[in-house]
Amino acid sequence: MDKKIGFIGCGNMGQAILEGMIASGQVVPGNIWVYTPSPDKVEALREKFAINAAESAQQVAQVADILFGAVKPNIMLKVMSEVNSSLNKDTVVISIAAGITLETLAKVLGHDRKIIRAMPNTPALVNAGMTSVTPNSLVTAEDISDAVNIFRSFGYAEVVNESLIHSVVGVSGSAPAYVFMFIEAMADAAVLGGMPRQQAYRFAAQTLMGSAKMVLETDVHPGELKDKVCSPGGTTIEAVRVLEEKGFRSAVIEAMVKCMAKSELLSKS
Ligand SMILES: NC(=O)c1ccc[n+]([C@@H]2O[C@H](COP(=O)([O-])OP(=O)(O)OC[C@H]3O[C@@H](n4cnc5c(N)ncnc54)[C@H](OP(=O)(O)O)[C@@H]3O)[C@@H](O)[C@H]2O)c1
Repeated sequence: MDKKIGFIGCGNMGQAILEGMIASGQVVPGNIWVYTPSPDKVEALREKFAINAAESAQQVAQVADILFGAVKPNIMLKVMSEVNSSLNKDTVVISIAAGITLETLAKVLGHDRKIIRAMPNTPALVNAGMTSVTPNSLVTAEDISDAVNIFRSFGYAEVVNESLIHSVVGVSGSAPAYVFMFIEAMADAAVLGGMPRQQAYRFAAQTLMGSAKMVLETDVHPGELKDKVCSPGGTTIEAVRVLEEKGFRSAVIEAMVKCMAKSELLSKS
């Protein structure tokens, strides 16, 4: 893509996006401008990726066709209001700040501005993110496609209506935490069975990744995949029985219901 990409803020998540788009060849480093308040950090990014180091957020805003706001949620609106007058009419602003709605962004940027709200998750840091992309009505099909392709450069991304944002928080944004707990618990049990701890983490994590890959790549229902592992009278159905008895699936559902409700509550405060 020929478009000029700007980053205001480029910490953990900004850098994951930056690396993804460069590594995939979608954007050449010379078309990327970055500003963060610490000149040494911008300089380090310039040295590592050969991007352009900007001297101010306004400079990034002036040049960008697509502008990423990749700062913490508590300063996102302030930062956006400071650069708003420097933006071009057609610039697409992409906010990755958790919890900030399209309407709140539009109140600061103007209701005539193309805005995308995106929510990546932490596996983006290892090129396996899941990102929801929610454009406002002014964003064109081409802009949406550009944004989805950028987020797919370090994982997977899909367009999602904003009404589903709390489900996104539950099923991908917050979800790595519960998955890590599952891996930890599996490893603890393997350690109980005598396996060294580091080896137990590898076995548990690889099994989780492989199982997820089967769901994504075979298109077979997860319940059917589970059934295929359970031989009659065997070890696996024994574990499944205990998980059911302990309310495993119900615990996950109830936890996510609370997570989604909390997300909704926070979005109103
Ligand atoms: N990390 C995640 O897993 C994750 C997942 C989903 C969404 N998000 C969202 O991503 C956003 C960024 O999170 P992060 O984890 O990448 O944070 P981070 O690592 O702390 O990075 C924040 C960046 O903002 C810069 N910054 C601070 N004050 C600024 C200002 N006044 N003007 C311009 N830039 C400023 C920082 O620059 P200096 O280092 O120079 O101070 C840094 O580059 C957040 O809104 C968060 O909600 C993160």
